[in-house]
Amino acid sequence: MAKTYKAVEVSTPGSLRVVERAIPEPRPGQVRIRVEACGICHTDVATVTGTYPGLSLPRVPGHEVVGRIEALGSAAFRWKVGQRVGVGLIAGEDGVCEPCRRGDIVNCQNPVVSGVTTDGGYAEVMIAEARALCSVPDELTSAEAAPLLCAGITTYNALRNAGLRGGDLVAVQGVGGLGHLGIQFARQMGFRTVAIGRGREKEKLARDLGAHIYIDTADDDAAAVLQRMGGARAILATGTSGNAMGTLVSGLAVRGKLIVVGVPQDQIQLNAFPLVFGGRSIYGSLTGTPLDGEDTLAFSVLQNVRPMIETVPLEQAADAYARMMQGKARFRMVLITGQ
Ligand SMILES: NC(=O)c1ccc[n+]([C@@H]2O[C@H](COP(=O)([O-])OP(=O)(O)OC[C@H]3O[C@@H](n4cnc5c(N)ncnc54)[C@H](OP(=O)(O)O)[C@@H]3O)[C@@H](O)[C@H]2O)c1
Ligand SMILES: [Zn+2]
Ligand SMILES: [Zn+2]
Repeated sequence: MAKTYKAVEVSTPGSLRVVERAIPEPRPGQVRIRVEACGICHTDVATVTGTYPGLSLPRVPGHEVVGRIEALGSAAFRWKVGQRVGVGLIAGEDGVCEPCRRGDIVNCQNPVVSGVTTDGGYAEVMIAEARALCSVPDELTSAEAAPLLCAGITTYNALRNAGLRGGDLVAVQGVGGLGHLGIQFARQMGFRTVAIGRGREKEKLARDLGAHIYIDTADDDAAAVLQRMGGARAILATGTSGNAMGTLVSGLAVRGKLIVVGVPQDQIQLNAFPLVFGGRSIYGSLTGTPLDGEDTLAFSVLQNVRPMIETVPLEQAADAYARMMQGKARFRMVLITGQ
């Protein structure tokens, strides 16, 4: 077996380059994965630009990872060599902080973060914590499963934990990597589904993904349209613009929720009136646990939810990343290795 593997690393902020590295051995509680596919998530920006808190370079980005286990460290219980597994962003809780001790491991204060505190999936090989793995069902190809482990779990979990009921009016703002999965999950969970995008170009795609209604913010005030429909019980905000999020609060029904999953660089401006008069709320939601990941994959198989992907060889990561940044990906760039 080769003693080295290819990885794409950030060694100086802003650049991705292909490097050859020595194959590492998994430590106790870890596994070594032969990566088959890794999605390019917009959050990877924080690794590529070197701005993720606590990040040190060089670092291999990537947290939508699917591959096969090729070596087990000691105490890597439950998993087997050859098994196909996935890893997401929050890839190992410390087990000792207060949220962990209360069972809220996704909000661990000192987590292993793929592509940030540890090398991620833009590579042929990745070391992962065994406790962070989810198993991948045979019905999904590795390239299909990968985006479900961040873009998918984030939108699926946010929607299923929002206290919604079948038939509720639910809007998904942003038709990108997260948004195009959020639309499918909202539709398949039985909600009256509205997609909010910019421009007519994505309207047909959004409808094909399951949106009953498409609102083009270039033509219409999304909050006003939602109010005319009775107000949304929830709006899942997936975009990268804070400016576009705050105004949506007035499109919520009484007691409706703006669920923030996008992480814009700019501030979210809020008006207190619709929050107070009508008891509306706004809160954030962060990916999910490994078991939430398995639930996301299982629901996707059950209801035939699949990401729309463009696959590219690992070596072309820099080009694929640029395409995502330009908003040209339809809707997820996925790096694949020769496995
Ligand atoms: N909470 C979590 O756990 C979590 C997990 C993964 C990602 N994220 C974050 O979620 C965000 C989206 O990630 P992604 O991978 O889906 O990104 P992406 O595929 O690059 O899509 C970008 C999205 O942002 C929207 N957008 C861009 N500029 C906009 C503007 N000026 N006004 C309104 N919308 C705008 C686009 O909407 P259009 O359809 O209108 O073009 C598109 O839906 C990122 O901030 C990422 O860091 C959070
Ligand atoms: Zn992500
Ligand atoms: Zn913790």
